[in-house]
Amino acid sequence: MLPGLSNLVPVKVLVVGPGAREHALSLALSRDPAVSHLICAPGNAGTTDVAEAMPLDAADPAAVAALAVAESVDLVVVGPEGPLVAGAADAVRAVGIPVFGPSAAAAQLEGSKSFAKEVMAAAGVPTAASDTCVTGDEAAAALAARQPPYVVKADGLAAGKGVLVTDDVVAAENFARDVLSATGARVVIEDFLDGPEVSLLAVTDGTTIVPLLPAQDHKRVGDDDTGPNTGGMGAYAPLPWLPAGTVDLVQKTVLQPVIDEMARRGTPFSGVLYAGLAMTSRGPSVVEFNCRFGDPEAQVVLALLKTPLAGLLMACADGTLAVQPPLEWQPGSAVTVVVAAEGYPGTPAAGDQVVVGDLPAEVAVLHAGTSVVAGDVVTSGGRVLSVTATGSSLAAARTKAYEGVDAVRIRGGFSRRDIAAKAVRGEISVPSQGSEP
Ligand code: GLY
Repeated sequence: MLPGLSNLVPVKVLVVGPGAREHALSLALSRDPAVSHLICAPGNAGTTDVAEAMPLDAADPAAVAALAVAESVDLVVVGPEGPLVAGAADAVRAVGIPVFGPSAAAAQLEGSKSFAKEVMAAAGVPTAASDTCVTGDEAAAALAARQPPYVVKADGLAAGKGVLVTDDVVAAENFARDVLSATGARVVIEDFLDGPEVSLLAVTDGTTIVPLLPAQDHKRVGDDDTGPNTGGMGAYAPLPWLPAGTVDLVQKTVLQPVIDEMARRGTPFSGVLYAGLAMTSRGPSVVEFNCRFGDPEAQVVLALLKTPLAGLLMACADGTLAVQPPLEWQPGSAVTVVVAAEGYPGTPAAGDQVVVGDLPAEVAVLHAGTSVVAGDVVTSGGRVLSVTATGSSLAAARTKAYEGVDAVRIRGGFSRRDIAAKAVRGEISVPSQGSEP
């Protein structure tokens, strides 16, 4: 009998959050034979297919803990960053219930870009050189000292919209001044990192860290990476173009050093550490950390995970990850394509009916911004659905994902049409180490 959960004692699990990531978590947990009862709170119009929905203000840590107690759950899985940064995991731990997710102090790795930079400096982790600025004049000076493209990041949480990358120094400065107009705000201005991006998510109990399959997100709203940044318009996993040994290298140079540094500070990080990396000519370098599963990366990574998820997450919660067996993965690939509401990433249209026609096998429509009104599923957020397919190859998974997307009808709804396209065509390459950026 292994620690964690593998003794198949039935467990009741509460997933906290409203989006497609939480739908993907719920779907994967529902496949674990150890899970006897699953709640996804507040959930959405799709999570109810696999989990019981309950009203919850996920941003209120006391409310999360109270629901966990009231429902006598055995494990709480906190999905989004907002509740984690607010202290949801601390509140649940304080009532003695195992929880998958970092403390508020550890979640600062995502909650503050400048904190993450400080941890990386202490841990010797490769990342772009940066300046943290609190006034517009400091930001202007930091920009003047750099070459385009300019990278400006709001220091705090911004739902994927707090980053501007631009060749226009005036736009960069205006963005920085705009962010800094809020009381107490800071911006981080950093050197641009060349090379394709990788999302490497890893589960950890605060001591041991185990990487999941590498994935790639598509953050811009338009095909060919045009238009503003979003929370993510689609993803795929694994990455056929990633040089062999990269995951081990990142484990050694990024993931383990950060986990060790957080433990050394007395704020161990348990849950998912999401490393956003650029594959530069000097090797993998950290663009950002997130303190939770990526959305939409979770949809593709969890679609391929064969290891029972509740046992894995419980092992992170109870500190027994080191004695878990190696992760098992379904062979092949997964692709997810986000269907967004008209107006996203600006103000999305709400209340439009969501109709899903017949779907091919191996396609799941994961819900994000949906609710049920008078018996109809309608849009209630920017990213509405995440249409996820698995297949024996990346090309097969991509074809099926788009068949799924084409079965969706939402007035004004749209998707990128190029998710995973460059990878399928073999057009992504990693700069060779030592080559000029
Ligand atoms: N896909 C980007 C994120 O989850 O932050």
